[in-house]
Amino acid sequence: MKPNTWILFDLDGTLTQSEEGITNCAMYAAEKMGLPRLEMETLRKFIGPPLAWSFQEYMGLSPEKAERAVTIYRERYNTVGLFENRVYPGVRYMLRALRKAGAHTGVVTGKPIGPTKRILEHFGLMKWMESVVSATDNRAEKEHLIREALPDGAEEVWMVGDRKFDMEGGVKAGVHTLGVTYGYGSEEELVSSGAERIAHTPREIAEILCPEVREIRGAFLSMEGPDGSGKGTQLERLSDTLDRWGFEVVHTREPGGTPIGEKIREILLDPENKAMADETEALLYAASRAQHVREKIRPAVAAGKLVLCDRFLDSSVAYQGGGRQLGIDEVLAINEPAVDGTLPDMTVYLDIDHRVAMARRCAASEPDRLELEAESFHARVEDGYHQLIARNPERFAVVDAAKSREEIAAEIAEKVLKRLTEMED
Ligand code: TYD
Repeated sequence: MKPNTWILFDLDGTLTQSEEGITNCAMYAAEKMGLPRLEMETLRKFIGPPLAWSFQEYMGLSPEKAERAVTIYRERYNTVGLFENRVYPGVRYMLRALRKAGAHTGVVTGKPIGPTKRILEHFGLMKWMESVVSATDNRAEKEHLIREALPDGAEEVWMVGDRKFDMEGGVKAGVHTLGVTYGYGSEEELVSSGAERIAHTPREIAEILCPEVREIRGAFLSMEGPDGSGKGTQLERLSDTLDRWGFEVVHTREPGGTPIGEKIREILLDPENKAMADETEALLYAASRAQHVREKIRPAVAAGKLVLCDRFLDSSVAYQGGGRQLGIDEVLAINEPAVDGTLPDMTVYLDIDHRVAMARRCAASEPDRLELEAESFHARVEDGYHQLIARNPERFAVVDAAKSREEIAAEIAEKVLKRLTEMED
């Protein structure tokens, strides 16, 4: 890559996807105006054209009523709709790769500057943007916006976008053009409007522009908690948030996570296996983990993915070390060859009194072999976790799992996103 290379991105349809926010706000405005519900297909047409025009065209409103609808739309958009956005999966990886290659990156968009900056800041993308240029009432042509975004002396410049306006603007401004097909325009539209190169995913943008960059490390997150801590729900919520932020999430669990690991899981959780010795149990968990680390976790992290694991080593320490009383250090020793240095970058712990957790769990489903253990067992598991947290305060994010689902989800999201975005730099 040449020393002074600039990559300029269109925002909507290229880095982020605003469909959800726009359609929700149009629906909201229609509802508030007492209008009939619109089909999703019609609502989608609101993406792109001026709003007042769309309200007249698709809802048959008079110009005055359309203005009123726009006001209602904006009320919701500016507070909620703006953040009902998604960063395309792999965009973060691509921006990190370009940064590593030494490229300068910026945004050139037809969206007004206020919402543009709020979206970039909200999703933690602003740190990569050295230049952000938006349309104003008297300056909306992409060609001019592109010229404005560039410093003197830029040696190689690419405009990356999903619509013909981006490609045509790039051609007129005399820069290279790269069209992306995962946004709102087709490959045909992009090629016929001058796209020199085409990418079908954000990762492909990096492969085209900086093929020399490899080894963008992802991250490894685990979630832990006693049975009945609400871990399943919170994993789902966290995973949704991470998807929305453009992380490429690989879901996995222990015991299990690989075909071999899932077979081991069946043996471990089978209520028939009452004769299983505690040591056998601990070794089987470690065996499943050894496979998991090598077959799935390490390759995914090395490829820049975000591994989100439902339980990991800490579960063995708490359940076998604490619960079964094999000892914390003994269980750590058994697991040393299994994990071979691979530990989570961060572990979310759902902190809940084991009695409260069991009451919840038994109300929800039939208990399995481990869940049928006596209360003292679960008390020792809880204690095992607390010892681990005291030993590794940096790695653990402890969340009070007695709070409401919403509060827990918000707290986890905040802590995890903070750590992950720090790791990206
Ligand atoms: P699972 O059905 O996945 O329970 P949960 O939804 O609570 O995660 O069963 C996993 C059980 O296995 C759970 O009771 C904890 C236990 N376990 C251990 O005892 N040691 C371990 O190393 C792991 C990973 C899990």
